[in-house]
This record gives sequence, C-alpha cells and structure tokens, in this order.
Amino acid sequence: MTLKGKHSTRRSADDDLYATEDNATIAVGFPERESAARQAYALVHDELMLDGNSRQNLATFCQTWEDPEAHLLMDECIDKNMVDKDEYPQTAEIEARCVRMLADLWHSPAKAEGIGCSTTGSSEAAMLGGLAMKRRWEAARKAAGKPTDRPNLITGPVQVCWHKFTRYWDVEHREIPMDEGRLLMTPEEVLARCDENTIGVVPTLGVTFTGQYEPVKAVAEALDTYQAETGLDIPIHVDGASGAFLAPFCAPELEWDFRLPRVRSINSSGHKFGLAPLGVGWVLWREAKDLPEDLVFWVNYLGGNMRDIALNFSRPAGQVVCQYYNFLRLGREGYEKVHSACYETAQFLAREIAKLGPFEILYDGRMDGGIPALCWQIKEGTDPGYSLYDVADRLRMRGWQVPAYSLPANLQQQVVQRILVRHGVSRDLAALLVTDMKKVLQHFAAHPVHTSMSPQEATGFHH
Ligand SMILES: Cc1ncc(COP(=O)(O)O)c(C=O)c1O
Repeated sequence: MTLKGKHSTRRSADDDLYATEDNATIAVGFPERESAARQAYALVHDELMLDGNSRQNLATFCQTWEDPEAHLLMDECIDKNMVDKDEYPQTAEIEARCVRMLADLWHSPAKAEGIGCSTTGSSEAAMLGGLAMKRRWEAARKAAGKPTDRPNLITGPVQVCWHKFTRYWDVEHREIPMDEGRLLMTPEEVLARCDENTIGVVPTLGVTFTGQYEPVKAVAEALDTYQAETGLDIPIHVDGASGAFLAPFCAPELEWDFRLPRVRSINSSGHKFGLAPLGVGWVLWREAKDLPEDLVFWVNYLGGNMRDIALNFSRPAGQVVCQYYNFLRLGREGYEKVHSACYETAQFLAREIAKLGPFEILYDGRMDGGIPALCWQIKEGTDPGYSLYDVADRLRMRGWQVPAYSLPANLQQQVVQRILVRHGVSRDLAALLVTDMKKVLQHFAAHPVHTSMSPQEATGFHH
C-alpha cells in the first residue's frame, strides 16, 4: 500500500514530518489545500538549506551577522510599516534621529535639522540623489532660458544602480572606463567629460569591483577650478554605499563628505557597514536648498511635519529601528572597533594570499584607501594551470563563496577575485580560509585544469 493510499487521510499533529504525502511534493501551481504550519515550515526551512551559508559569503557587502537584540527588535517590528508615520510616530521619530546623527557624522552644515531619509538601500537612495541633481540642473537651465533635453552624469566605474538611474531617467551616462594602471576616476578624466549639460559627478567611496575609494577631494578641487574658469557649478553626489559608514570611523582625516562644499548629497547602505539588517539605506542632502521642493511630500505625524522622499510606499520599519539600535549600541567607539577588526583581517588575508605565490594583490584593505576588502589577480604573464574561476569553484566545495569576475570596460580581459571582510568574518575563519586556499593550490598542482595558455588567456580566462 502506498503512503498516499494508506495514510493521507489520517493526518494529525503527531504524524512524522517526513513520512506524509505533504512532504513528497514540490509546489508548482497555487496550492489547493491547506498544510499544517509545521509541515509547511519544514518544507521551506529544508529548501533554504540549499542556499549558500551567508556567513561564508565573502562576495556580499551586506550584513550577515546581527546582535541577538537586533533579532528581537526585528521581530517586535514585524508589523510596523515605515510609511505610516502618523500611526507609528515613534518609529518616524527614530528615523529622523538617525538622519540627524548621520548629518553630524558626515559634517552637514544642517546637522540640527538633517535633510534626508531612509530608503530600502543605496540603490533607492542613489535614485533620489540623482533625481535631485537632475531637477536642480533643469531649474537652473530653465531660469537661464536654456534647453533641458540632454542631461549627462559623470561617474567612475560604478555599481549598476547608476546605470539604472541614467537609463530610467533619460540621462546620458558618461562613465569613465578603467584603463591599464588606472582603476578609478581621476580629476583629469572627470574634467574631460564636463559641460553645461552635466547634472553632477558621482565618485564612489568603495568601488564595487576593487573596494577602493575614489578621490572625492581632488575631484571637488578640480571642479572648483573648472567653475572659476567656466562659471559652471557642477555638484558632487558621493556614492558612499560602503565607505560612508567606514571612513568617518577609520579614516576621519579623509575629506570626502559635507566638509567639501561641493558635495551636495551622499548615499549609503545601512545594511552594509552601517551594520543594520538587510533593507535600509540613507540619502542626505547638504542643506534644504539642495533638495528640490517638488521631490518632497510633506506628511503630518504626531502634530509635526516631516519630509517624505521615497520611491517606495510601504516598507518594513525593523531595519531602521535596528539602525538606531546600532548607533546607540556602538557609537563612534564601537563602529571604529568593529571596522578596524575587519580591516586587520582583510590585511592579514592580503598578506597570506600574496605569500601563496601565484597571485598579485591589487588592493590590500588599507584603512584610508578603501573598504575592508582585498582583491587580487593571477600574476601578469603567468599561467599556473588554472584560472581564478577554478579557484572560486574549488573553494565552493568547502562552502566559501569568493567571487571571481572580469573587470568592466576597458579592462574586461582582466579577471580578479575579491573578498569582503564584514562584521563576523573573524580572524579564525580567515585563517581557515587561507588553509583551504593552500589545499586548493595543492590540488591544482596535482591536477592542473589546463596545460597551456597564452599569457592573455592566463589572466583573462572565462568559463
Ligand atoms: C558602490 C555601490 N553603490 C550602490 C550599491 C547598491 O547598494 P544597495 O544594495 O544597498 O542597493 C552598491 C552595492 O553593492 C555599491 O557597492
């Protein structure tokens, strides 16, 4: 007698989870019947085992470890909608406090007020920062009786959110490509692309591909000179997705924020080095005049009036509440400790990986140079008998996710591998990863993946 025939009518809370019909099917169409909660939970829970282990995901910039208290707060906020400021005025107040704290951290002249808001992440924040630049430029052009049909934005090699911004909002993207020996934007490359239709320049503090900081101050100074010569006042928006939560604590002397008058807005991801759970970003403007009024919806809460600037409507509040928890819990002192430990681990990994022999470190996790990350390539002109993609595949056997990828234009032929060190990537785990990398290289020494390659293939091999 089959399971179905004999037992399916006799379902009870005592049934074994794995010996019933409910656990034998994969849902395709919309389910007809109810399931017991514990049964459905077991199905979903078990399937999630097939995902990678997030703590071993060294590709992500996002948080994979949280204090137990943050888990409690997330649970307590499961029913709170960030958009309902009138219904949840204290949560709205907590968001406003976070904005003011960030205004202080990033040296805003409007710190008592704090002009900005939370978002779902840096992508939404970048859209809002970009839109404000576009609107300001349009207003100035209209006031001067000039056309507004050909806006452009200048960036270095950026994260995809800026490709989305320029495409969704019809802005020409003047992206400075990487070149031999230059992986970042430079003032010269920026100036070569500026004209009267430039709505802004976006340097990245922590370039996605390598982790390095772009030279915000040098670019701002070059734009000051450009303004003196041409009269064109081109603003800077800093994409500080990672760096805006790192530099204030670990490289406080680095001037990249509202200390530079040309920096009019900044975005950052609370869920990256802001240490909040996934789903929160921030965008701040220097002063009220930098945020065009037509992007703002004013909402009342608890008798007050608050700016609502967002692309989303409903949004979970737990992440914002946990961001505030982290600010209180850690303060400047705690953030500096947590992030410094990450930088030290990144530098340890860079030293150890350099010692392995076949690799050349491109960025080693220097505190004032970028984020706690490292990236490397196979030594130029050499062919160890395997590619970085092979190394990534082999490390995956131990659960480590260490991405290998080709750089963007004009260095598409150059393949690199990168590790992000976040809160919770301990020195112990890092040492175990180095041991596993040694084993990977021993394996490839005994079993090379390929035997002959041109030097170009050796550094730019694609699966
Ligand atoms: C430089 C940079 N900007 C923007 C983003 C997008 O951030 P989010 O995932 O918070 O939307 C990222 C994500 O990695 C990034 O590295």
